[in-house]
Amino acid sequence: MRITMIGSGYVGLVSGACFSDFGHNVICVDHDQEKIALLQKGVMPIYEPGLADMVANNVKAGRLSFSNDLASSVKNADAVFIAVGTPSRRGDGHADLSYVFAAAKEIAASVSDNTVVVDKSTVPVGTGDEVERIIREIAPDKKIWVASNPEFLREGAAIGDFKRPDRIVIGTENPEAREIMQEIYRPLYLNQSPILFTSRRSAELIKYASNAFLATKITFINEMADLCEAVGGDVQDIARGIGADNRIGSKFLHAGPGYGGSCFPKDTLALLKTAENFATPLRVVESVVTANNIRKRAMARKVLQAIGKDMRGQKIGLLGLTFKPNTDDMRDAPSLALIQGLEDAGAIIHAYDPEGMTQARPLLPNVIFEDEPYKVAEKAEALVIVTEWDAFRALDLKRIAGLLKTPLLLDLRNIYTEEEAKKAGLVYHGIGRPNAG
Ligand SMILES: NC(=O)c1ccc[n+]([C@@H]2O[C@H](COP(=O)([O-])OP(=O)(O)OC[C@H]3O[C@@H](n4cnc5c(N)ncnc54)[C@H](O)[C@@H]3O)[C@@H](O)[C@H]2O)c1
Repeated sequence: MRITMIGSGYVGLVSGACFSDFGHNVICVDHDQEKIALLQKGVMPIYEPGLADMVANNVKAGRLSFSNDLASSVKNADAVFIAVGTPSRRGDGHADLSYVFAAAKEIAASVSDNTVVVDKSTVPVGTGDEVERIIREIAPDKKIWVASNPEFLREGAAIGDFKRPDRIVIGTENPEAREIMQEIYRPLYLNQSPILFTSRRSAELIKYASNAFLATKITFINEMADLCEAVGGDVQDIARGIGADNRIGSKFLHAGPGYGGSCFPKDTLALLKTAENFATPLRVVESVVTANNIRKRAMARKVLQAIGKDMRGQKIGLLGLTFKPNTDDMRDAPSLALIQGLEDAGAIIHAYDPEGMTQARPLLPNVIFEDEPYKVAEKAEALVIVTEWDAFRALDLKRIAGLLKTPLLLDLRNIYTEEEAKKAGLVYHGIGRPNAG
């Protein structure tokens, strides 16, 4: 199959590379000239484990290429995927669909007959109808179908998720589009990945419902962590205890500083906006959004309370800035609210992140970036672990205790235990554990 990806960000690039790895011919398009120039030189514009090798192999095999020229790239495609950004619109939280609609217009002008245009971006229910209307208006005589195929990959594990998905959701009621989509995903179908065909509207909603549900799960365990701190329980035991129940499941039950990233914050807001537009309030999701915002801000108070003194001009060390490990994505990372709160109290933040510092620098102009974890701890009033990178899981805690001005470890991801910290001479505060508050 000849596939064109419009948008070569986390989703477009990973999906394009994986489709080419299945044997399809793929062109990844982006209007960001610098991004395409980098990709043409074999340099990845994002950090994603395994991506560089997969791209190099498929470029070498002649199945994958990159272009700025949308018009010529869609001309002979069997399927054109829209994988452009859908950030929150300023003011009302609705998904900003301007990139999607702009792409649809450009595609309609150049695509040939018998092509399926597939929306892979996360878009509110009904967007497929509007994309179809735009295309029909510009190209009334062409045989083009519009399908929805939401993407569920996780940054940091994107290739594995794409190649071994829990399910593939395809929203179309059109037999020709269905056939093309089946052919595109045949390699996964042969691997027994379930393909769920639904209406286009249902497919669009499945994506938002999934993310809202996962955000709810995280927020639920975070609130249980607060309760554990108040009454003397251990949230990790609670998570194990409830997660062992198959009806609940053990994933997404890790208490932490609140969810962030490029999807959950904006997708929960966009879902609420849709609910508002259709006068069907989603009270659970509303509470989740509020609780998560409060939690992110509360993390700075938690750190300051643990230190317990005036922080003006004093150093705090931070390990991890990205919203989760194995990505360089800083969008809506909990570290941003935490750092803001600490800086408001006068603290001077020194930070280290294995991959996120290039993205973080412009967002955090007052932070001093170090090139390794131990420098962050030197003469600091506390060391705070914000993101659970593997590189932070086996730190020399004794050395850290010696470097810190005050031997205080705030572990917002519970990757150490109080006993381990104590043995090294550190005072320990985790999340949702006895003595954690
Ligand atoms: N990042 C994730 O983990 C993830 C997972 C599942 C779904 N999604 C969804 O997928 C979509 C894309 O997300 P992303 O993280 O890959 O975004 P991104 O910002 O990393 O990439 C989007 C790319 O599209 C390009 N672009 C925008 N308009 C264009 C146009 N008209 N022509 C060509 N290129 C254009 C941009 O330059 C950018 O490179 C969003 O709707 C997002 O919600 C993201």
